[in-house]
Amino acid sequence: MMTKENIDKVLAELGELKCKTLKEVEEARVRFLGKKGEVTALFEEFRGMDKEFKKQFGRALNDLKQAAQARIESLKADIGPEAGEGDTASDLSMPGDSFDLGSRHPVSIVRQEIVDIFRKFGYDVAEGPEIEDDYHVFEALNFPPNHPARDMQDTFFISSGHPNPLLLRTHTSSVQVRTMETQHVPIRVVCPGRVFRNEAISARAHCIFHQIEGLYIDEGVTFADLKQAILLFAREMFGPQTQIRMRPSYFPFTEPSAEVDVSCNICHGKGCNVCKGTGWLEILGCGMVDPNVLEASGIDSTKYSGFAFGMGLERIAMLKWRVNDLRHYFENDMRFLEEFDTVV
Ligand code: DAH
Repeated sequence: MMTKENIDKVLAELGELKCKTLKEVEEARVRFLGKKGEVTALFEEFRGMDKEFKKQFGRALNDLKQAAQARIESLKADIGPEAGEGDTASDLSMPGDSFDLGSRHPVSIVRQEIVDIFRKFGYDVAEGPEIEDDYHVFEALNFPPNHPARDMQDTFFISSGHPNPLLLRTHTSSVQVRTMETQHVPIRVVCPGRVFRNEAISARAHCIFHQIEGLYIDEGVTFADLKQAILLFAREMFGPQTQIRMRPSYFPFTEPSAEVDVSCNICHGKGCNVCKGTGWLEILGCGMVDPNVLEASGIDSTKYSGFAFGMGLERIAMLKWRVNDLRHYFENDMRFLEEFDTVV
């Protein structure tokens, strides 16, 4: 019934409305303003009234409708946007914003692959300083002072005129020495790291590059163990058909020493331009740790023996991806870096 009291009653109900969710606000809207809502019903009634009554209630009814709409809007605003109710920014079912993860550097990929292979063989990872002293880079590795073997590695010296000058390590073999000084036998480690040599930068040489060193010391380690370790590594790295060959070589810290070639995985030994027609690719240097090197680090060479090996990571990356210009690995050109890997 349209009376002043009824209109006031509806107004009072609107004032007392409490909603916790947008769903409740919508229910309230239907209750008052929906097709069968209380306000709508009063308007229906109003339509059939005499002119005189219309005059009396017209304004009050319009005010009521406006008050109802304003109340519903303010209830909605109090709750704010809710997930899934018209607010797309916080729709948890929407796919997230993607952002660029970058990609791993090819040298990092190769380092990780090699470390993972040797981890399977039971090797730990050891690291040492890039700024080293002469003792750990040369002397303890059986390079006597002024020995011509030092010329094999053009060195950046940091201090001179000192009996044990500081320098940038020229190879990761220095980490062998630090490991032997601090760990107990048996020792089984691989030592990845950055090395420095005073070389003119070209497609085949750089003043900074990366190596990984391996060292195994125990009782009764023989050259046959070395050969088997290298063969297993080569097959894991380059495929199960891979063959290796060892050529006699010279390193001051190993005796005997060898260089290792793997069968060319491109032409399978037939000869191509990557292996320069030989069917073989050189991958590393190795040998049995010289007894002088063991003794220098306090390991009894009459009781223990071991082998060591070292390889260049850029060299392995070059063989893997056939990128034959070393400079690419250091220029940080995104177009180059993105070629290798997209998952970090
Ligand atoms: N340190 C050598 C180099 O940088 C590589 C190497 C050769 C490491 C023979 C070894 C090894 O451990 O046994 O040229």
